[in-house]
Formats: sequence, structure tokens, C-alpha cells
Amino acid sequence: MNRTIDLTVNGRHENVEIHDNWTLLDVLRSGLTMLGTEEGCGEGSCGSCTVLVDGRLVRSCLFLGVRASGRDVLTVEGLSKDGELDALQNAFVDEGGIQCGFCTPGFLMTTKVLLEENPSPTEEEIREFLSGNFCRCGGYTLILKAVQAAALAKAGP
Ligand code: FES
Ligand code: FES
Repeated sequence: MNRTIDLTVNGRHENVEIHDNWTLLDVLRSGLTMLGTEEGCGEGSCGSCTVLVDGRLVRSCLFLGVRASGRDVLTVEGLSKDGELDALQNAFVDEGGIQCGFCTPGFLMTTKVLLEENPSPTEEEIREFLSGNFCRCGGYTLILKAVQAAALAKAGP
């Protein structure tokens, strides 16, 4: 290992030994053994490695690990609370928006930001916002339904 970085992951302070050439994805998966964030293409094209850094969507396979020092990272593991899935995760489960599940962490993190920025997105806006996330199972129709259900749930009765 070349250095140690301090960062916050899902609200917890972490002190991690890393190699200088590690990406944030490496920090999460190899440094912290947090395996929820998936590596698909490894080159910024598929969105499966998406996490939030200081509230912004980031492709963790392209984000240098040392740059995460002092930052606040949210991963898919940070969505559930006390072992309970959050409303967004439940919407994906209930609507069948998860098949093999490989793309799901990236879709969840991207959808989280979409609904924070635009709580009532149109179908077109959802498609546009999620257009950088690929699902190799081709589950786009059910993912769209899941996002719409999550938006409705967030809006309340
Ligand atoms: S693994 Fe990062 S975008 Fe595909
Ligand atoms: S559910 Fe399998 S890749 Fe999307």
C-alpha cells in the first residue's frame, strides 16, 4: 500500500490503506470489502459503479481513490436503514426492476439523485436521466415502472 486516506462512507468514518493507482471503486471493494458497488465496464460507460461523492453522482471506476480523501461517499449499502430497504429499493423489488441485480446499485444511486432534483419526472425525463446506466438483462421497462412507483411513493397519498 502507498498511502492512507480518511473518508466518510455511508456516514461512517473510514481510514483506508490504498495504492496510489486505485480508483474509488477499488477503495470500496478492495479497501473496505464493500461489494455492493459493481464493476461492469471499468471505463465509465455502463454506470454500474455509480456512487455519490459529496452528493454528486460519480462513476467510481473513473474517480481516483486519493481524490476521495476527506469526502463523503454514499453507496448502495447506505440506502437501507436498520436492515430495512428504503422506499426506492422497495419500489425496484415490487415492480420487478431487478433481474440479475448487477446494474441495480447504479440505477438506485442515479434514481436517488433524479428524484431529489426532480420529484415528479416525466417518462422522458426518467429515460434521459438514466440513459447512462446499462442493464444487460434488458429490464428497462420494469426499471422505468420502478422509478415511477418510487416517485409516486415519495409524493405520498
Ligand atoms: S464500471 Fe464504471 S461505468 Fe462501468
Ligand atoms: S438486472 Fe441484470 S444487468 Fe440489469
